[in-house]
Amino acid sequence: MGKISHLECRECHRHYPAEKLYFCPECFGPLDVKYRCEEVDWRKDSFQHAPKNLWRYLELLPIEDESNIVNIEAGYTPLIKATNLGRLLGLKNLYIKNDTVNPTFSFKDRPAGVGVSKALELGLKSVGCASTGNLAAATAAYAAKAGLRCYIFVPRGVEPEKITHALTYSPTVIEVNGSYDTANRIAAQAAEAYEIGVVNINLRTYYVEGSKTLGFEVAEQLNWRTPDHIVAPVGSGAMLHAISKGFEELEQIGLISSSKVKFTAAQGRGCAPIVEAFRKGLDFVEPVEHPNTIAKSLAIGEPGDGVYVLRKLRQSGGYAEDVSDLEIVEGIKLLAKTEGIFSEPAGGVVIGALKRLVEEGRIESDETVICLITGSGLKAAEAITPHLPQPLTIEPELETVAQIIAR
Ligand SMILES: Cc1ncc(COP(=O)(O)O)c(C=O)c1O
Ligand SMILES: [Zn+2]
Repeated sequence: MGKISHLECRECHRHYPAEKLYFCPECFGPLDVKYRCEEVDWRKDSFQHAPKNLWRYLELLPIEDESNIVNIEAGYTPLIKATNLGRLLGLKNLYIKNDTVNPTFSFKDRPAGVGVSKALELGLKSVGCASTGNLAAATAAYAAKAGLRCYIFVPRGVEPEKITHALTYSPTVIEVNGSYDTANRIAAQAAEAYEIGVVNINLRTYYVEGSKTLGFEVAEQLNWRTPDHIVAPVGSGAMLHAISKGFEELEQIGLISSSKVKFTAAQGRGCAPIVEAFRKGLDFVEPVEHPNTIAKSLAIGEPGDGVYVLRKLRQSGGYAEDVSDLEIVEGIKLLAKTEGIFSEPAGGVVIGALKRLVEEGRIESDETVICLITGSGLKAAEAITPHLPQPLTIEPELETVAQIIAR
């Protein structure tokens, strides 16, 4: 008997065995992995000798046989007390979860690791993903490590650094003429037709479990407490939903007391369907047909988990904020200048949303706030380069340096 109890439909709550199933055959709702939580004996001191990567939480991850784990040492990233940024904003307990330091420089190493490991467990010979950029390199890196063939579907316009990065691991990269949602649709067809384990489509039920580890780590790093606020960048909404699911599991096994985290969904203004729906009080998400934001990694016009994020925001008493391109750039610069962390636009979105929350008086000064910084700035330099000064070019003469310093 494995640790997975069953897969459960998020809509009609029917149960299914833990197979390669990614939607409910009855009502087409998404499926969630349910564990035999009563058998998980986690205590505060259980993790002293656990691996310093995301697999430290293996008992609540959906891989039954350890030999299928593909490990590139992702996860267990720093939670940094942001004293400078906090002082500036009047927050005494502001933290940055720095997921830019993962092996492929984004949080996507978490879900991709679980997705590719599950592909091995299910006996698949090839994997892939539909990606707004970051998942491409993550999936390709794991596929390389596992020795699996890999097919990456990306929309037009992904940052060149992200394509170069992914290509280096030798997958087949297919650039689809259209938006992310178009690339996603063709990837779904290819998954069916050619038995490809597309991690965020037909392995999605398992894949999303990897993102839970972000929440597990935050709770562990706060000595098994949950914060008051989490500000999360949102594309499909899978990560935010998974983190919340993770907290519910920690509660269920009794490791944390009731979790009252307020989630804020942060999106770029040119593609903010979840923020729009939240503001309008809708319980469905109106798709954005032509996303237009420098936060390309979040540019998902039809977010798969959109309605579930809306529910989580409302249940948790949370918020939703959209951030303009200029505010994104300012957010990137502010985080770099105050905390020494170089983020991609998704992080600029988070910092922009945080500033807005503070301005609107949504956060008490002593509340614990976590900003999820999920991808490195090096992967999207194009977004920030036009907003930076040119370096000063000089002849190698000390006198010129002296003039510069005297300015
Ligand atoms: C850096 C970064 N942050 C956040 C997200 C949003 O994740 P999700 O699609 O699970 O909402 C993405 C998605 O690609 C991303 O690349
Ligand atoms: Zn169902």
